[in-house]
Amino acid sequence: MAAITTLHPKTIEIVQSTVPVLEKHGEQITKRFYELMFSNHPELLNVFNHANQKQGRQQRALAAAVYAAARYIDRLDAILPVVRQIGHKHRSLGIQPEQYPIVGKHLLLAIKDVLGDAATDEVIAAWAEAYEAIAAVFIQVEKELYEEAAAKPGGWRGFRRFVVAKKGKESDVITSFYLRPEDGGTISDFLPGQYVSVKLSIPGETYTHIRQYSLSDAPGKGYYRISVKREGATAEKPAGIVSNYLHDHIQEGDVLEVSAPAGDFTLDLTKETPVVLISGGVGITPLLSMASTLAIRQPHRQTTFLQAALNGRVQAFDQELRALAENPAFSYYVCYEFPSDEDRKHPHFRKEGRIDLEWMQTVIPSKDADFYFCGPVPFMKTVYRALTQWGVPEERIHYEFFGPAGDLTRD
Ligand SMILES: Cc1cc2nc3c(=O)[nH]c(=O)nc-3n(C[C@H](O)[C@H](O)[C@H](O)COP(=O)(O)OP(=O)(O)OC[C@H]3O[C@@H](n4cnc5c(N)ncnc54)[C@H](O)[C@@H]3O)c2cc1C
Ligand code: HEM
Repeated sequence: MAAITTLHPKTIEIVQSTVPVLEKHGEQITKRFYELMFSNHPELLNVFNHANQKQGRQQRALAAAVYAAARYIDRLDAILPVVRQIGHKHRSLGIQPEQYPIVGKHLLLAIKDVLGDAATDEVIAAWAEAYEAIAAVFIQVEKELYEEAAAKPGGWRGFRRFVVAKKGKESDVITSFYLRPEDGGTISDFLPGQYVSVKLSIPGETYTHIRQYSLSDAPGKGYYRISVKREGATAEKPAGIVSNYLHDHIQEGDVLEVSAPAGDFTLDLTKETPVVLISGGVGITPLLSMASTLAIRQPHRQTTFLQAALNGRVQAFDQELRALAENPAFSYYVCYEFPSDEDRKHPHFRKEGRIDLEWMQTVIPSKDADFYFCGPVPFMKTVYRALTQWGVPEERIHYEFFGPAGDLTRD
């Protein structure tokens, strides 16, 4: 890690004292920032997720990260864990150092636009310096992540072409794609829980679309498997672009552009603590990879898998989990929100409705375990609150968002 730039005390003071002002206008500033940046650099629409833009999720994520960093501007090393998490996402997207000044320039323009006279030259100059220092930390962390991914046996930089070797239905809404490199070379190992970015050029679309998909099988099998839920249209929202395109148009033999595996939501295979894996809907993918890896690498390690699904028709990977549950160290429990009569006969079905702490305490042998969970945001909030209420320490609670990271403590 390169030395973190030291800023002038006056700069630090100005930046820290204006953080609350910027936070107050946070969404307005970032909204303006994206408008300005995309109008001057439309090519960046090839990397940003348009749906996240429309729903403001990315705006909130970026704003929160910049202000968090600014609060720690005098000790940026404190934010390194967060930078690493974002850096993994940036690396999988192929974000480059030369793009940082573009973001910085438009952020400052947006601050000026929104704050007007309150953004004095002194304030703008201080934020310019602070942004440069923050960007330098991101660029350095990402440089290391790029090098690490490329240096691994079978690793690579950027996107590599993968052929869909097999496409298979896992449930009414989830389909798996088994990916092998077109060049016939080896592929790098990954840690269970990691994801890849997939880049698609969809006929009729002006820009490319990049999405992340967790690897749903164990590493070391010569292929990567991703399992994608179809995000169908509803009365309130349009159909998801990439998931529907993958389901409807990508067939065996087609090629996808794929990043090297990334992400810091990973199972620690050096530990021996009991593991509890809790999945909601398609959030099962990284957790299944963990469960399958445990079966190979640590079959003796006590593992409890709780799978929540609306019903048996949309539940994926049941057969794989039943097979894993033949190991006495592995327990598998199913929770259906709306079970059919048939679902009620499932040998692992234990709970109707939504997951709650009371039920979790009846099936999880002990809170002295490492907990990993993933699913829709409301599900994650429920699980997170249940675990903290139960007294599970923060360092034993691990989770992944299938979108920009958010705050599970807030409603
Ligand atoms: C680390 C990580 C791992 C992931 N792993 C998986 C995985 O294993 N499997 C999986 O299926 N997914 C996974 N995802 C989610 C995945 O990356 C995509 O977000 C998902 O497939 C939806 O993409 P899409 O292009 O189909 O939908 P998008 O077009 O991106 O739309 C996303 C959602 O926004 C809604 N939307 C779009 N436009 C609007 C609008 N104007 N107003 C309101 N709503 C709107 C859509 O209806 C849809 O529900 C993961 C995400 C991350 C970050
Ligand atoms: C210091 C500057 C930056 C900060 C603080 C920052 C912060 C963030 C954060 C918090 C996220 C969400 C991560 C998550 O998924 O949890 C994110 C995602 C992302 N960032 Fe950055 N970022 C910075 C610079 C850049 C640059 C220079 C680019 C490229 C132009 C970029 C492109 C993206 C993209 C494309 C995503 C994914 C968003 C999506 O889903 O559309 N970022 N960034």
